[in-house]
Amino acid sequence: MNDNLHQLRCFGCGARIAGAEAQPDFRCAVCGDLFEVEYPGWSQRQGHDRPNPGALKWLWRERRCSAETLDHSGVWRFRELLPILESFGDAVTLQEGNTPLYPLTRAAKALGIDQLYAKHQGMNPTGSFKDTGMTAAMSVAKERGFEWVACASTGNTSAAMAAYAARAGLRSLVLIPEGKIAWGKLSQAMDYGAVTCQLKADFDGCLTLLTQIVREAPIYLLNSVNPYRLEGQKTPAFEIAEAFDWNVPDHLIVPGGNLGNSSALGKGFRELKELGLVARMPRISVIQAAGANPLVRSLAENHGASLEPVEAHTRATAIRIGNPASWRKAARIIQDTGGWCLDVTETEIAIAKAELGSEGLGCEPASAVTLAGLKKLRAEGNVASGESVVLVLTGHTLKDADYTIDFHRGTLLSDEEKAGHEKEIDSLRRNAQVVEATPAAVLAALKGSA
Ligand code: F0G
Repeated sequence: MNDNLHQLRCFGCGARIAGAEAQPDFRCAVCGDLFEVEYPGWSQRQGHDRPNPGALKWLWRERRCSAETLDHSGVWRFRELLPILESFGDAVTLQEGNTPLYPLTRAAKALGIDQLYAKHQGMNPTGSFKDTGMTAAMSVAKERGFEWVACASTGNTSAAMAAYAARAGLRSLVLIPEGKIAWGKLSQAMDYGAVTCQLKADFDGCLTLLTQIVREAPIYLLNSVNPYRLEGQKTPAFEIAEAFDWNVPDHLIVPGGNLGNSSALGKGFRELKELGLVARMPRISVIQAAGANPLVRSLAENHGASLEPVEAHTRATAIRIGNPASWRKAARIIQDTGGWCLDVTETEIAIAKAELGSEGLGCEPASAVTLAGLKKLRAEGNVASGESVVLVLTGHTLKDADYTIDFHRGTLLSDEEKAGHEKEIDSLRRNAQVVEATPAAVLAALKGSA
């Protein structure tokens, strides 16, 4: 079966090439920009492969009860909208996607918003949203006969890549910044059998180096510059629209690092709209850490015409990225949908993460920027009380347990960072206590916390 209906279109100059013609670094040979997957058969005019919205909605719902392995994936369940493989039988899946959409009732009340949800992408097989992209791009790597795959990573991409490579029977190479990724993520890459190189470089340096390596050796690049990654990562948009009964929320709020995810989710909603599955798009806002905010600066300084890389510093190591590859795509999606791009401080991230935790929803610090950003959007009047909001939580809380423990021990933030927020922080901190092994001592501890 040939399910392949796609081509690649350069985001910069519009040049079109066949999927197999892409260069190893996925940069356009004409202008150096990145590609997007497009499906010519969907266009209004040519239209012969244009999917039927009603039939698709019915089919995708039916698949939730199907016994087929591919239908158990929240990515491949929507395979009509990602026809990127020669045969869907080649798909490498760990049953990713189909992640929960949790109502955030306490945060909604505190912010005076009627409808607030968290789409928890940390509930994927390797604990981050990267799995949805990795199943797509790893399937392409396998189908094209590669033996080696590779990525530069702040940790989650490497965990996902190593797992999917192991499932596909491929070897994987990971380049990570030494000492700058959370242990949980590093342990995953090791366990799934990747060759893991810790480099004396930041994420941006690792990615530059890897770009040189893939030009010299037959290794398939699996960073989000690979447009097939974004095809998988667009599918949470379909899940969100489906959960809203094919309406969309008013706002979608996404953390920004290398800026692939915001681009992918935007593409997902755009395609739903173009195909007539939904009537409009949500406003998509991207939140960065204040110490790693090149897109915020670019939009503020020159409306996204150019981006000046920054030296990135944040404890939210997942988004410690100063020279994001997909910044043009993300800038376009923010501007096209009327969203915002903001940054939040280390203190705001820590507080937001603890607040999510107190609602029973753990997440990575990088994910908590979404709630911190929403507070600002709300305070600035950009989110109205009657509007619906979805925060995209990108990673599982256990990825970076050290961060959480340091927060609750009170050692995460400096006195300077805590200044003015002491009360708020103290009300959220729940340090573990050493207590004598007697009922009286435990009951006294209970009283003390009341
Ligand atoms: N949240 C988490 C938990 C991440 O791991 C990442 C990126 C992001 C948000 C930002 O997403 O890059 O698409 O804008 N992590 C990458 C990695 C860079 O290597 O795991 P983005």
